Amino acid sequence: MSDAQSPPKPEGTPFLGHALEYARDPIDAIETFGNKGDIVEVDTPIQSFYLVTGPDMIQEILVKKHGSFTIGPAQQESFAGITDNAVNMSTGEDWRRRRKAMGPAFTGDTVEAYRQRMIDEAVESVRAWSDGETFDLHKEMRVFTMRMLTDTLLGIDIRGDEDVVISASDALIDRANLRRIGRYLPDWVPTPTDRRFEQSVRTLDEYVEECIQERRGESEGEDVCSLLLKAADRGVLSTVEVRHNLVGLLLAGTSSPGGSLMHAWRLLDEHPSVLESLRDEYDRVVDGDALEPADVDELELAQHVLSETLRLYPPTVGVNRMATESVTVGGYEFDEGTQFILPQWVPHRDERFWTDPESFDPSRWQGDFDRPQFSYFPFSGGPRFCPGKKVARQEMVIALAEMVGRVDLDVSVDGDIEFTPSMTLRPATEHVATVQRR
Ligand code: HEM
Repeated sequence: MSDAQSPPKPEGTPFLGHALEYARDPIDAIETFGNKGDIVEVDTPIQSFYLVTGPDMIQEILVKKHGSFTIGPAQQESFAGITDNAVNMSTGEDWRRRRKAMGPAFTGDTVEAYRQRMIDEAVESVRAWSDGETFDLHKEMRVFTMRMLTDTLLGIDIRGDEDVVISASDALIDRANLRRIGRYLPDWVPTPTDRRFEQSVRTLDEYVEECIQERRGESEGEDVCSLLLKAADRGVLSTVEVRHNLVGLLLAGTSSPGGSLMHAWRLLDEHPSVLESLRDEYDRVVDGDALEPADVDELELAQHVLSETLRLYPPTVGVNRMATESVTVGGYEFDEGTQFILPQWVPHRDERFWTDPESFDPSRWQGDFDRPQFSYFPFSGGPRFCPGKKVARQEMVIALAEMVGRVDLDVSVDGDIEFTPSMTLRPATEHVATVQRR
């Protein structure tokens, strides 16, 4: 590509390119570079890529020309050694086969059928909190959503074993941390972070294997475990594929919804009038002891609060893609192998599409709006979009409503909100919540 045809490239440090900015504050770097144009070139000693923040170009990559792209190496490296045979790591025919095998568990009807059990789980979790109790909000929200999800979608009884998933999830993020010196050493140099990662992944693998053994022979139902086991019985999936997909879903399915609920609570704590309106909605909709499955569709404000939380704090730092052939994006030509990162953070806060973008305003989701489709894409888009979108939104709405209806959480945050430089928007700032029962 000649310079005249190239997207802009912000000035960087000799030899290190833009690595320092990324390691110092990944969100600040994404914002600074992303605001220089709808597509900009970013350079680090580990990888060079294009940061794509213009909604039309995002749509070109994810939807219109999706056949010319596959997942990028950064995504594959992040999950290497943990879900190598799972859908999120695969490409081509393997990806299609693995995604198809679990597809029926994520359809609208199947997800709706989980509502009652999700409500029961949420009610039980909130009832267990006592007045004045304090907890780490991020961890508690992950455990909360993990119980709702594993009992329904995954068909696994996780109670008592939640730390197995939390430890593996934390180890995964620690290993991917851009500030970690060991990340830049050759693979054969063992570091304490690598050892912790290997140990926690082994424990999670063994745990999931035990769950599979318990479920063998009773693979009825539409939960993911049953579907994957049935696919293995038919010879469509191998036993390793079943295990890796369950591990992948446990990790993908618990960290993002839990993190989003943590942000939602902090934002509600800062905006008491929204919290009050949310409570009014709960009190109006719930006619009895708890939500009924049909009530979930009535929780319009809860839906808007979540949409707004996912706009301001999208759980993934960006969608990764790599060109599998020469391709044009936004009129620029790119060679096979070129890498792209599509960070939701920038278009989600772009003044061209949002009025007063930095403010938390759930009312912006009322009625019709006229903005480009890919100015908002927390769950990605195109054929590879997040399959957990419906189930995640449903469990978060139920969890939020049952929590808001029954308790108040006084959230105290230790300093400014900061994030771990990694592939997900993992908060580095501690959030402590104190329970007040209503
Ligand atoms: C707030 C909640 C969630 C958000 C914002 C979210 C977002 C995303 C995003 C951005 C991707 C990348 C898609 C791409 O490469 O184009 C993804 C992939 C994926 N997500 Fe989610 N996710 C959430 C919850 C869940 C849940 C609850 C599950 C299931 C239990 C799940 C399962 C997956 C899987 C399996 C993939 C890989 C899909 C593939 O490669 O075909 N996610 N998610």
